[in-house]
Amino acid sequence: MSAAVNKKDAQNIIGVFDSGLGGLTVLKYFLRDLPDYNYIYLGDSARLPYGEKSQATIYNYTREAVDFLFSVGCNLIIIACNTASSQALRRLQQEYLPVAYPGRRILGVIRPLVESITADKNIKAVGIIGTKATILSDAYKSELEKLKPSLRIEQVGTPLLVPLIEEGWAEKPETKMILKKYLRPLKEKQINALILGCTHYPFLHTQIKQIMGRQIMVPQPGEIISRSLNSYLKRHPELGLTQLAHPAYKFYTTDSPERFKLMGEKFLGRTINDLSRTVLTEL
Ligand code: DGL
Repeated sequence: MSAAVNKKDAQNIIGVFDSGLGGLTVLKYFLRDLPDYNYIYLGDSARLPYGEKSQATIYNYTREAVDFLFSVGCNLIIIACNTASSQALRRLQQEYLPVAYPGRRILGVIRPLVESITADKNIKAVGIIGTKATILSDAYKSELEKLKPSLRIEQVGTPLLVPLIEEGWAEKPETKMILKKYLRPLKEKQINALILGCTHYPFLHTQIKQIMGRQIMVPQPGEIISRSLNSYLKRHPELGLTQLAHPAYKFYTTDSPERFKLMGEKFLGRTINDLSRTVLTEL
């Protein structure tokens, strides 16, 4: 990281980071519920999937993404990626941020989802699906246990889903077949709610609900994370994030902008106009 990156002032912008396009399922709810802020989205599509990589690699990639988003003026970064949240967030918050960017903030997505599940008295058993790295980290499990020790927790790694979604195969019968195979053990364990522990999985929300049945709650992560961001912004005026009459939404990808635009507009449900390619390793 260069000194120039460090010195750049915060410019009233919320950064949203994901390993690829999946974080757009979170940004979609920010733009619906909190549209008057400036946003910069960064998708590290060139290095996706993070979910198959080691903790050291995921930490380094996420730190580079954080450096980039702070270098373009973000005051606050939401790490929308569950894999990065589970493998890198705590270390970034505790070791890196206070030294490299005092006064700026990084938030993840695991805590808001955990708080919402544990606040619901009717949920006695919860399932979690996520990438290999997220499930192996036990990040959801340990946070859930902290807040509600009586909760029964069932986790399943579902590594084939991200490539299928990135490929635009969400609606294909083959994907539904794979989903059924992944979800069967969770169904048999009679959970009350299922956490979609990966930014990509909201694309399969309808199919997952169909397979799991009406009794099992499958919250939309973006909705919960957006509510939590709203409350955080109200509690932290010192961050200097204000609502604007003409907010700007800017997008960066580390891979082909053409592909990002094509798939991203589907993910986001709106047109992506201001889009550039960037390289994270040169920082
Ligand atoms: N965005 C990641 C997540 O939420 C999944 C994709 C990947 O493996 O990079 O976990």
